[in-house]
Amino acid sequence: MDTQILSASADGVARAAELLRAGELVAFPTETVYGLGADATNDAAVAAIFAAKDRPRFNPLIVHCPDLAAVERLVEMDDRARELAATFWPGALTLVLRRRPDSGLSLLVSAGLDTVAVRVPDNPFAQALLRACGRPLAAPSANRSSEISATNSVHVTASLGGRIAAVLDGGQCRVGIESTVVDVSGPAAVLLRPGGVPAEVIEAVIGPLAQPDPKDAASPRSPGMLSRHYAPSIPLRLDVTEREKGEALLGFGPAAPKRALNLSRKGDLQEAAANLFAMMRALDVPGIRGIAVMPIPEVGLGRAINDRLRRAATPAADDGDDDDWHEDRGPAAPCRPLDDGEASR
Ligand code: TXA
Ligand code: MG
Repeated sequence: MDTQILSASADGVARAAELLRAGELVAFPTETVYGLGADATNDAAVAAIFAAKDRPRFNPLIVHCPDLAAVERLVEMDDRARELAATFWPGALTLVLRRRPDSGLSLLVSAGLDTVAVRVPDNPFAQALLRACGRPLAAPSANRSSEISATNSVHVTASLGGRIAAVLDGGQCRVGIESTVVDVSGPAAVLLRPGGVPAEVIEAVIGPLAQPDPKDAASPRSPGMLSRHYAPSIPLRLDVTEREKGEALLGFGPAAPKRALNLSRKGDLQEAAANLFAMMRALDVPGIRGIAVMPIPEVGLGRAINDRLRRAATPAADDGDDDDWHEDRGPAAPCRPLDDGEASR
């Protein structure tokens, strides 16, 4: 299959909407990361998402809607959910809520649960596409299973080119890290995945968020919680200020060496989040044996960044049966030691 690159023009959006209504897969930009979109009411289209991603298991997917009214047709909302929606939508917050019996959604988007994750994205092209398409769109991050999320159309094509009908090219994602997932389907609001909206900011609106029940650890409610989920192919060492031979340094803040890639020289966590996946990719290249990451403060978006980094740093052996990790990378090829200049690109 040839993957079309559609420009984010009126024509491109119309063509993307037409493909989606015909049951095809189209990757599209959101403010967080690119989503791999399918008509959420079409089982075959939703199933095709899992195939394109090489996901060995059906994880539940986030359903995207243009506005609150469209969300209310799919899930049961209470006052707490409406307050979160009013405060954070459109935006990087995903709410897990009970499905309405008449939602019309494919059961596959819920992966057997009686809940659905929903969000209203804050990106003009995502909004235009959702309105043109007139259907709710199921969209996991637009990358193959175990690969890091894509924040521009080049990364989408590198991962999914030839497997999907089209990519709507809306440039670089502004937030650069996935949405925060909060389960508000039960009495306690539970933080399932830290993300683009810091937990503290949500807690300021609805009070303390609960942690997921550890008894659920064997079948986590949110696969985003699995230990190794966002991983480059080479080892990461975290909280270090100097690289070792063969490693590249991923800097943060003004103290980082000038030559190192820097998540944010200003020490701005939002800028760091936006750069995170692209910089991990940039360093995950032949000739670099590992990535040494400078400390990131554990506050606000820094918590989500550290969460991603810790998952990426978890050795593959700790992996259990995490479905989002695949084994076909094989052992790391031995590589030539680098001289100084090369390794700290
Ligand atoms: O920013 C984002 O959230 C991006 C963009 C494209 O919107 N999407 C994304 O989707 O990251 P995905 O599939 O990679 O992650 C969805 C997360 C997973 O951790 C999944 O387990 C959780 O949401 N999730 C989805 N439906 C759920 C449900 N019914 N109950 C619990 N967790 C759910
Ligand atoms: Mg993902």
